[in-house]
Amino acid sequence: MDIQKVRSDFPLLQGGKLIYFDNACTTLKPRQVIDAQTEYYSTYSACAGRSAHHLSKKVDEETAKSRETVAKFVGAKANELIWTKNTSEAINLVAHSFDFSQKKKVVLTNMEHHSALLPFMHLAKSGKIKTEFALAGKDGSFSSDAFTNAVDKETALVVVHHTTNSTGCTAPLKEITKIAHENGALILIDAAQGAPHHKIDFKKEDFDFLAFSGHKMLGPTGIGCLVGKEHLLEKLNPFMLGGGTIETVSLSEMKLHSLPDRFEAGIQNYSGMLGMAAVANYLMKIGMENIEKYEHELFAELLAAVQSVPDSTIYGNTSSKARSALLSFNLKNISAHQVALMSDSLSQIALRSGLFCAQPAMEHMGAPKGAVRASLYIYNTKEEVQIFKDTLQKIAKLA
Ligand code: ALA
Repeated sequence: MDIQKVRSDFPLLQGGKLIYFDNACTTLKPRQVIDAQTEYYSTYSACAGRSAHHLSKKVDEETAKSRETVAKFVGAKANELIWTKNTSEAINLVAHSFDFSQKKKVVLTNMEHHSALLPFMHLAKSGKIKTEFALAGKDGSFSSDAFTNAVDKETALVVVHHTTNSTGCTAPLKEITKIAHENGALILIDAAQGAPHHKIDFKKEDFDFLAFSGHKMLGPTGIGCLVGKEHLLEKLNPFMLGGGTIETVSLSEMKLHSLPDRFEAGIQNYSGMLGMAAVANYLMKIGMENIEKYEHELFAELLAAVQSVPDSTIYGNTSSKARSALLSFNLKNISAHQVALMSDSLSQIALRSGLFCAQPAMEHMGAPKGAVRASLYIYNTKEEVQIFKDTLQKIAKLA
């Protein structure tokens, strides 16, 4: 992997001193994505699936190709991919379209992002479902026992992260999927932090539903995906209808469109789809295995950098090999927000501080007031980690 070549694709990394370590929040965008979106807006900015003119036909063709490319990126078929605005919408789509009339139990974990927790907690509050939580160890990691205990024949759905945004660790997905299926339950994977950093093969891994966002994988904001097995998507009852979702309608009846159109109500984010395809191609060209390998190297440096600061507290299982280059931590006698602000002002290092929209997870790991998070990606370098280390040491001395 040629990191300098990768860096040259990102306008925000040219000429300045920015050290961007906030990739779990959102990533920077390469020219390839920006160009794909600009091309749509400047040369064929019409709508798809409706008008018969040549511009519209071009949007039809290009967006169909985009669906194929992005589906291929996660090992799925094109009509198994529904465009959403992000992971949150994809998870909400399942929560509000799933048939819970036979079995009402949903198993989640205490390490989920609020986007996975809240739709199901909300349904539970109104009595539509029951939730149960598989609990992580103190370091936020899971053994499959937590799922063996929580999942039973009453379970309709298991909802679990691919990789957490608070520790960067990947869940034991093979075991969890097997436990879900042995109990007759389906599994929904929140891959917001998984898809950007790991190779995912939806079919081979036998997932039932998979949700991810464009903006965390170098793609545009406002576009994401729900991938689902075809026969399971057929059974979902769309919760949002509108233009483009029906074949025929009279004032007394309507016939829903075939997949995936029935889930995509109204004029869509076409430029986002094209940007998503551009980034799927970009990442496939680099190779997800190469990205994983490089992130392991970066993580080792990152861990050593934080460990070099006396009395730092690190959250998560740092010896796990199934992870991305993400580390959450606190320094002694200085708040997480102060560390982030000082890193920015001293060395232009962009970090995130707070609860990362995963309050139960952070409380569970002993950080009820939050932590600092450094989350790295393919354009980050070991030299940047060295500057980060020097900066943290300076901050710790000032504290
Ligand atoms: N979920 C995003 C994060 O972890 C916003 O920062």
